[in-house]
Amino acid sequence: MVKTALITGASGGIGYELAKVFAANNHDLILVARSIDKLQRIQDELTKTHGLQVHVIGCDLSQIDAPQLLFERIQQQQLTVDVLVNNAGFGDYGPFADCDWAKQIALMQLNMGSLTHLIRLCLPPMLERGYGKILNVASTAAFQPGPFMATYYASKSYVMSFTEALAHEIKGTGVTATVLCPGPTRGTGFQARAELGDVDFFKKFKLPAASEVAQFGYAALERNQVVAVHGFFNQLLVFTNRLMPRQLVTNAVGQLQAPPEN
Ligand SMILES: NC(=O)c1ccc[n+]([C@@H]2O[C@H](COP(=O)([O-])OP(=O)(O)OC[C@H]3O[C@@H](n4cnc5c(N)ncnc54)[C@H](OP(=O)(O)O)[C@@H]3O)[C@@H](O)[C@H]2O)c1
Repeated sequence: MVKTALITGASGGIGYELAKVFAANNHDLILVARSIDKLQRIQDELTKTHGLQVHVIGCDLSQIDAPQLLFERIQQQQLTVDVLVNNAGFGDYGPFADCDWAKQIALMQLNMGSLTHLIRLCLPPMLERGYGKILNVASTAAFQPGPFMATYYASKSYVMSFTEALAHEIKGTGVTATVLCPGPTRGTGFQARAELGDVDFFKKFKLPAASEVAQFGYAALERNQVVAVHGFFNQLLVFTNRLMPRQLVTNAVGQLQAPPEN
């Protein structure tokens, strides 16, 4: 039977690539983002290539009531969410004391609040049916504090911790939870939205493509892996992190991400 995957942040980057992977693996789709025009283009593309049902919903998930409204809309359309992919998220670069507070609130609500609320809404029907899959996109940022992107790193730690706890709670129910932790990834709008222009580790290293990350995330979800860190280098970094004093790791990230001196 064809399953339906709800993917947030599907208008570009990793979310768009995830939509393509789910479509290629015979899933109907509910694609969510703010840019409805981009979603409609993707709807056309994926419907033509795969002949599946692709629904698109324009929605700003940084608004506190957005998950409830989105869920009600899905229910009105009598759609079933078999797979929930909480991918939408963004970062914000700079010293915390200078940050734009409205942007920070939006970051925290999108990266943590809406992700958690959508799971709260979609999980009970999944448990009732005895089937469901949840994929939360965190980051390798989840594994340590991140000076000059403090709330972003903290939000991804939340996503990882929450997913691990949830996976434990729902063990044996037929519903699974996976947290995908990519490192810096090319072919996304992340760098621009986070205003990371001056800290250009995105240019210094050969980074994996969003399509590779999406394939990896889908495979991890399929094998019910709880924590999935993408790439050997990132896995090594995460492992080394665990062996090092936290203060040392924080200092290293702080140095790597420090804004250039004028
Ligand atoms: N790229 C990286 O290096 C990297 C590394 C590790 C983890 N990640 C994580 O991967 C996930 C996907 O990011 P990406 O790299 O693919 O970035 P991206 O290319 O900027 O894509 C972000 C997606 O989220 C959507 N989105 C942003 N704000 C939204 C809002 N308020 N409401 C609904 N949708 C919203 C965007 O669509 P609209 O603008 O149309 O709303 C877009 O579809 C994020 O959770 C990010 O933290 C990225």
